[in-house]
Order: sequence, then C-alpha cells, then structure tokens
Amino acid sequence: SMPLEFAALGGYLLGSVPFGLVLTRLAGLGDIRAIGSGNIGATNVLRTGRKDLALATLLLDSGKGAFAALGAMALAGWSGVDPTVPVVAGVAAVVGHNYPLWLRFKGGKGVATTLGVLLATAWPVGIAACLTWLLMAVVFRYSSLAALTALTVAPGFAFAMAGWPHVAGFAGLAALAWWRHRDNVRRLRDGTESRIGQTSGGEP
Ligand code: G3P
Repeated sequence: SMPLEFAALGGYLLGSVPFGLVLTRLAGLGDIRAIGSGNIGATNVLRTGRKDLALATLLLDSGKGAFAALGAMALAGWSGVDPTVPVVAGVAAVVGHNYPLWLRFKGGKGVATTLGVLLATAWPVGIAACLTWLLMAVVFRYSSLAALTALTVAPGFAFAMAGWPHVAGFAGLAALAWWRHRDNVRRLRDGTESRIGQTSGGEP
C-alpha cells in the first residue's frame, strides 16, 4: 500500500497549482487577485468577462483534485486500496489549493477542487453535490451560497452512499470551505454579495 504522508504531499503539490491565476496572467488580464473578490477561482475569473477562462479554471481546478485522488489510487495499485489513501490525497489537494506554498499560502476557497475530489473518490456523492450546486446557483445566483450548500450536504450524501473515510474527509472539507468563505458569508448577510455573471458590485 501507499504511505499516507506520500499521498498527502503529492496531493498538496498538485492542488497548489493556481490555474485561475496562471490562465488569467497568460491571457494578459493582470493579477486576478486585484479583480472582484480577489479570489483565484473560476467564479472570480468569470468576473473578468472571459467565460472560456472561467470554464478552463473550473475544469483544471477540479481536475487536479480528481487527479490527486486517482493518482494515489494508481500508485497504490488500484485494487484493495484503503479508501483513506485517495481521500487523504484529495483533502491535501484542497489544502494545497487554499494554502499554496508558491503564493505565500494565500490561495483559493477550494470549491472546484473539492467537487473534483468528491467525483473521483465517491462519484455518486460528487454527482449529488454538483447537482446541489447547480440547483442553488440557478435559484439564488450566488456562487458562494451554492458552494456552501453543496459542500455542507456532501458528508450526508457520503453517509448514505460511501464509507466512513469519505464522511470524515468531506466533513473536513465542508468545515474548511466555511472558514475560507467567511467574507462571502458576511456579504451574504449584508446583502452585498455579487451574483453569478455580475462583473462588479459588493466586493472590496
Ligand atoms: O469558488 C469560490 C466561490 O464559492 C466564491 O468565489 O470569488 O465569489 O468569492 P468568490
């Protein structure tokens, strides 16, 4: 089997690649951290007006979470692997996204990466969480509220459709997401949070 600290280190390094920052910089849009909410994620990339870059950020940030979990499974030999291995690699990828070494530990909020981890480690839970995000986003049009709802119900879905390592790991990811969204929570309470597709307003 695979040592958990190796899965954690590999997951952290993969997760710490800030695709939103890299893509917007390559596109000549400057530093994404100076735009909108200042976040490096797909929601904030969308505030630049570049839907293509926002979609690419979403796919690459989720992909690195999924790749971390699946890569750990592959290195451990796929069959009969303790499910703790991919869950630890996936949680570490989200920690890497939120606290990347390369950005002095100031990273993102981990929503896309968490959804990638859920899809790779317990796909029915991942599908359920993505559908929850979509439903909430369509109804209320706040990315942060959709994310907090989807990630908060994920451990419940895992209790019904996955195992204890998943329940514990996803509960940890939900708690981390609430911590990283504390400015969004304040703006939601104040009624100043910007809606999806809105290019200005409400942000610092
Ligand atoms: O994925 C982060 C999202 O939930 C909120 O992003 O830019 O509105 O803070 P933002």
